[in-house]
Parts: sequence; C-alpha cells; structure tokens
Amino acid sequence: MRLDALVETPESFGSSYEEEHTLTLEDIREWIVPADDGAMFGVFADGALAGMVGVGRQRKLKMRHKAHIWSMYVTPAQRGRGFARLLMQAAIGHARTMRGVRQVQLSVTANNTAAVALYAGMGFAVYGHEPEALCVNGRLYDEALMALPLADG
Ligand SMILES: CC(C)(COP(=O)(O)OP(=O)(O)OC[C@H]1O[C@@H](n2cnc3c(N)ncnc32)[C@H](O)[C@@H]1OP(=O)(O)O)[C@@H](O)C(=O)NCCC(=O)NCCS
Repeated sequence: MRLDALVETPESFGSSYEEEHTLTLEDIREWIVPADDGAMFGVFADGALAGMVGVGRQRKLKMRHKAHIWSMYVTPAQRGRGFARLLMQAAIGHARTMRGVRQVQLSVTANNTAAVALYAGMGFAVYGHEPEALCVNGRLYDEALMALPLADG
C-alpha cells in the first residue's frame, strides 16, 4: 500500500517510490512495530487494508515534545467513508500517550484540499507555508505546515 500511495499521489509525500521500492519486508516490519515513541495504524474494510497513517515522536532531545504524522493514505475505492478521520483519531490518541508531547505536526501539499480539510476538521491549524517544498517530476509544490496543540502534553 505504501508503494501504491507513492505511485498514485507522489506529490502528497516527501518520500519517493524510487527510494522505497527496494525496502525489504523486514524494513517494513520495523516501521509498523508499535512503540512508545511511534506507531503505524491501519484501517481494514472487507478483510483488506484500506488505509494507513504513521505517528512518531521526534528523536532529538530538544524536539521530543513534538510528534508528527506521516504516510496518511486511504485507497481510492475506500475514500469518503470516514476512514482517514478514524486513522487520525488513532494517531492523535497515540501521541497523547507519549509523555511530554505538546503538539502534533504535519506537512501537507498546499493544494491538497481534501487532506487540508481533513486536518483542519481535526483541529490542526496552519503555522507556516513553505514555497516550493517538493519538486515532483519537474513540478514544484508548496506545503502547508500544520499543528495540533495537545492540551496537557
Ligand atoms: C486525504 C485522504 C487521506 C482522505 O481520506 P478519506 O478516507 O476519503 O477521508 P474521510 O472520509 O475520513 O474524510 C474526513 C474529512 O476529510 C475531508 N475530505 C475528505 N475527502 C475530501 C474531498 N474529496 N474534498 C474535500 N474534503 C475532503 C473532509 O473534511 C472530511 O470530513 P467530512 O466528511 O465531514 O466533510 C485521501 O483522499 C487520500 O488518501 N488521498 C491521497 C493521499 C493523500 O493526499 N494523503 C495526505 C498526505 S498529507
């Protein structure tokens, strides 16, 4: 699914198919093993994986009060059913269990209206705008930087 996501909407992700298609199952397993500092969630429909999202805490000592969301994707056939919202609720809930985490951050391609609306609807606010953040197949994309404060991190 991760590779499908990178192929279908390459402008939605900072990583590229070319960088990830050689990863082994063992590499992927390490990504999805739940840990105190991060986890990857899946949503399942009709017995199959329909979407995913990752949440991770920053590793550097001076940034450990921040978590970030990554790899948000729902398969085209399953969109519009509330699955992304469920995934975000799980990811934010996990961030809330990380002691000392005060905010959850993410970046989103500024013209991705569906994703921006999703995050805004979950309480994320734009705190910055990076012009020409991604260059995908020769086309430049701006990114919106968004954050959700956690009340009692
Ligand atoms: C963005 C994406 C994750 C949304 O997944 P989804 O499961 O269809 O979203 P949901 O059904 O949970 O919708 C939740 C909210 O997102 C927003 N939203 C979702 N699809 C939308 C659309 N086509 N247009 C506008 N808003 C949309 C709405 O605010 C919606 O709430 P509402 O139903 O009350 O209006 C999905 O379209 C996707 O995987 N896109 C390609 C990858 C991508 O862009 N990932 C984000 C990287 S930052």
